[in-house]
Amino acid sequence: MHLVTLTPGDGIGPEITRAVVDIFAAAQAPIQWEEHNAGITTLESQGELIPQGLYDSLERTRVGLKGPITTPVGKGFKSINITLRQKYDLYQNVRPAQSTEGINTPFKGIDLVLFRENTEGLYAGLEIFDERLGIADTLSRLTVEGCHKIARAAFKYATEHGRKHVTLAHKGNIMKNAGRLMIEACKDAAAEYPEVTFYDERIIDNMCMQLVSKPQQFDVIVTTNLFGDILSDLCAGLVGGLGVVAGANIGDNMAIFEAVHGSAPDIAGQGKANPTALLRSGLMMLEYLGETESAARIEKALSATLTHQGQCTGDLGGPASTAQFTQFIIDKL
Ligand code: NAI
Ligand code: MG
Repeated sequence: MHLVTLTPGDGIGPEITRAVVDIFAAAQAPIQWEEHNAGITTLESQGELIPQGLYDSLERTRVGLKGPITTPVGKGFKSINITLRQKYDLYQNVRPAQSTEGINTPFKGIDLVLFRENTEGLYAGLEIFDERLGIADTLSRLTVEGCHKIARAAFKYATEHGRKHVTLAHKGNIMKNAGRLMIEACKDAAAEYPEVTFYDERIIDNMCMQLVSKPQQFDVIVTTNLFGDILSDLCAGLVGGLGVVAGANIGDNMAIFEAVHGSAPDIAGQGKANPTALLRSGLMMLEYLGETESAARIEKALSATLTHQGQCTGDLGGPASTAQFTQFIIDKL
């Protein structure tokens, strides 16, 4: 049995979390949940955005599965997601995007993994606002160490998964220093991991164009925080949308698994959300915990369900509710 901290989040979070918990239970996955929420929900009920109980639980279990949490725009409170990523140095945000049989998209044969640096860059929290002068500064901070950590993580992952090609996406033509640090870090990592035989670089704007015209050419992509945030939603769009792409925030001694998408307030509470993205994040978690058999069993039932459009949720063109889709997966276990 593995103890895992479960954070349902808000918006569609509770609905998709329930789906994952039910599927794991039906599959007898060896997970025991410790539920601790955060966000507006706990601010209202306990007076805290991140209750101490969540920190204590994560520090005990070292593994979390997390639903999305709303961050109000311009209200002055820091994103809970960023707080957790920085506090526990979860410096890798790993986001796979793969074509799935049964999901209709303009592309076939996409199989890429994005490594987004998760604690630095424009998310470093270095914001200065001068009301009198009317100037808003948001500083991007990269460190040599941070760049090397994410570069090494991407090359190590590629090596361990038999992937031969790593691409760095950057904007070194304009942001000279940041670009140089990432390029140097990747070149060092490439020398350290010779089994990755093909390393190349793309300037971020061209990268976007290439991704939407010939995404099959990419394998492992490594990039800084904001570029990675944007590219991962772009990649989601290539393989079926935000309802299907998983993610993981990984550090050297803790990992929190969560979907790429947010709290989807436009469909929250309506039974429309697709739990696939969070379920796939849960499968990444099972693999991280060494529970590959459980993961494979659930994966098989999920894949079989996704091939029937009639059993899928509305984002995939199907008629099923979150609960019905969940039941179709459980029936196939
Ligand atoms: P979003 O990702 O929540 O939604 C974008 C669009 O995708 C919406 O039309 C939504 O209905 C759809 N969508 C997302 N997930 C879906 C699912 N599982 N099934 C079906 N459709 C799905 O992005 P948005 O609306 O920009 O952000 C909403 C809130 O979420 C914001 O407060 C943002 O800060 C927060 N957020 C939180 C994240 C996290 O907790 N890790 C990540 C991204 C955003
Ligand atoms: Mg995002």
